[in-house]
Amino acid sequence: MQQQGGMMRNSPSYSSGGHSRSFDTIWSPLVKTGTVASNRSYAFFSLFLFLLLGAFLSTRLLLDPSVLIEKETVAVTDRGTTESPKYPQSTKLITEKPKEFTLNCAGFSGNDTVTCPKNNYPTSFRSNAGESEPDHSPSATCPDYFRWIHEDLRPWEKTGITREALERANATANFRLAIINGRIYVEKFREAFQTRDVFTIWGFVQLLRRYPGKIPDLELMFDCVDWPVVKAAEFVGVDQPPPPPLFRYCANDETLDIVFPDWSYWGWAEVNIKPWESLLKELREGNQRTKWIDREPYAYWKGNPTVAETRLDLMKCNLSEEYDWKARLYKQDWVKESKEGYKQSDLASQCHHRYKIYIEGSAWSVSEKYILACDSVTLMVKPHYYDFFTRGMFPGHHYWPVKEDDKCRSIKFAVDWGNLHMRKV
Ligand SMILES: *[C@@H]1O[C@H](CO)[C@@H](O)[C@H](O)[C@H]1NC(C)=O
Ligand SMILES: *[C@@H]1O[C@H](CO)[C@@H](O)[C@H](O)[C@H]1NC(C)=O
Ligand SMILES: *[C@@H]1O[C@H](CO)[C@@H](O)[C@H](O)[C@H]1NC(C)=O
Repeated sequence: MQQQGGMMRNSPSYSSGGHSRSFDTIWSPLVKTGTVASNRSYAFFSLFLFLLLGAFLSTRLLLDPSVLIEKETVAVTDRGTTESPKYPQSTKLITEKPKEFTLNCAGFSGNDTVTCPKNNYPTSFRSNAGESEPDHSPSATCPDYFRWIHEDLRPWEKTGITREALERANATANFRLAIINGRIYVEKFREAFQTRDVFTIWGFVQLLRRYPGKIPDLELMFDCVDWPVVKAAEFVGVDQPPPPPLFRYCANDETLDIVFPDWSYWGWAEVNIKPWESLLKELREGNQRTKWIDREPYAYWKGNPTVAETRLDLMKCNLSEEYDWKARLYKQDWVKESKEGYKQSDLASQCHHRYKIYIEGSAWSVSEKYILACDSVTLMVKPHYYDFFTRGMFPGHHYWPVKEDDKCRSIKFAVDWGNLHMRKV
């Protein structure tokens, strides 16, 4: 997260639009067409990523783990004031006392302090282990966006990934993560903002549990800051070393960072956001409560406008005495929200407008998936960053594109058109 010009993006304290609960929220076609598939495909995505990575790394790298995560009990301590060293900004506490989350071992026994046994992870694969076994049948296909992993790894196609290149990623990485014989080892280099690192690692832990014995040995470096940092321009030319392979939540056309799902898929403790799987269920129910046609016939956005010029520019489209651009825009009051424990943050009841606007802050915004999930029409102001799935989205199919340099008219046109062609919408 981080900041530029003094603000952080995916951070409630600075705010970000959208990223909170009450935030701006929406999701549409992706979920419409892919909800059922999405959990599964997500799991596949992760697996795929790991297999690829593993293929790259496993034979080459063995490391000396400095921290062994053996206990699944992870206390989310009060880290509200944590900052990334790269972005020395003062941060505000956004929750009085962050809750303790238990990495559930015995199936949520109700006790907060359950510690899992040492050899908690099965190392062999149990087929038919019951419940939600992912579909391994040949007919299960990967979502389109999986192909981007080839693109993301292309910089190392010729050279392979060397130990030297990997180590250079320590310049900004928050942690190194290795999986060896089905166990996760983490070496922490620097504090992450809030508990991003904890939840990201938790995602890896869950991957191991879902595919016991199936995850190859691997090692990777992970940076939890919003902004991509591996500048492609610095690695062109025959004399240049290969870029450091560095995982993070987003990148853009000028950077070579490798994208990985953001921490909030597994939860965002500080703003009370639940893991994606359970949230999606609630959203689905919420979406059924108000049919699209019964929603407010306007374009809605709520977030922190001050994190980016483009958001300030968007504010000009708000309803005014003089003109109605059909946009209803609101500032997120993070301080107030945090005091009230994000009670307004029931994402499932945020889908009350026919159109929801997605606009980037200082990089990609975590709010995107929640906005898309709303089952309203997503009006997307031309984005410059991508995360792991957004390159698989198409205008006119997953979202309605909004011009960056002519936002108000572009929004009004979309809303007017949509309200006139409701069946098509
Ligand atoms: C929780 O812990 C308490 C105290 O150790 C114990 O008495 C109780 O049975 C535990 N509850 C469950 C559901 O395991
Ligand atoms: C990164 O790795 C290099 C080489 O191993 C080491 O000298 C340096 O101290 C490391 N930097 C950080 C920030 O860990
Ligand atoms: C936009 O207009 C509405 C209605 O007048 C107002 O309540 C809201 O605060 C305005 N939003 C911003 C960001 O000024």
